[in-house]
Amino acid sequence: MAKSNMEQDILKVLYTEEEIKARVQEMGDELYEKFADKNPLFVGVLNGCFIFMADLVRATQVKSELEFIGLSSYHNGVKSSGVVQITRDLQRDITDRHLIVVEDILDSGNTLAFLNNYLLSKGAASITIVTLLDKPSRREKAITADLAGFVVPDEFVVGYGLDYAQQYRNVPYIGVLKPEVYSK
Ligand code: IMP
Ligand code: MG
Repeated sequence: MAKSNMEQDILKVLYTEEEIKARVQEMGDELYEKFADKNPLFVGVLNGCFIFMADLVRATQVKSELEFIGLSSYHNGVKSSGVVQITRDLQRDITDRHLIVVEDILDSGNTLAFLNNYLLSKGAASITIVTLLDKPSRREKAITADLAGFVVPDEFVVGYGLDYAQQYRNVPYIGVLKPEVYSK
């Protein structure tokens, strides 16, 4: 195990590196079946997607392209503000493309509800929502993932790309953050 000065802030491990790897491969296999003849465009939602996206596209051995969009609905807290901002826009035309949206976690649904409408307004042919984690207990918008890695309880999780105030993204597993870290 690598040295870590973040482990002391983690209450418990929800999914280990090995469990994540196995599940991501299953997801890749599923996407392969669905998209093998569609030249899909993966659209990663920054910043949280960056590790999941890297693993998912390599688990999905389909001829495809990548794109990123930056969205933000948090102000360094643990709850969505509900107002979604584009912090980095798409860099190419998505008209008539089959999109695979890659998100770290579907929580209130505000981010993906906004993104879904935005991508439709730009002329996407189809949108498939893939999220590593799904926290259905906190949903505010009527949005569901087409493919979800793990359903998680209503706890604030970090690691494997997920952050608290931009930190902990490099924790290699998914863990629950100790509440005292964010209630300080
Ligand atoms: P939503 O708009 O509430 O669905 O939230 C989506 C975004 O909130 C995700 O892209 C994450 O960046 C962030 N988020 C929601 N829940 C958590 C969590 O438990 N840990 C870290 N980030 C989270
Ligand atoms: Mg985030």
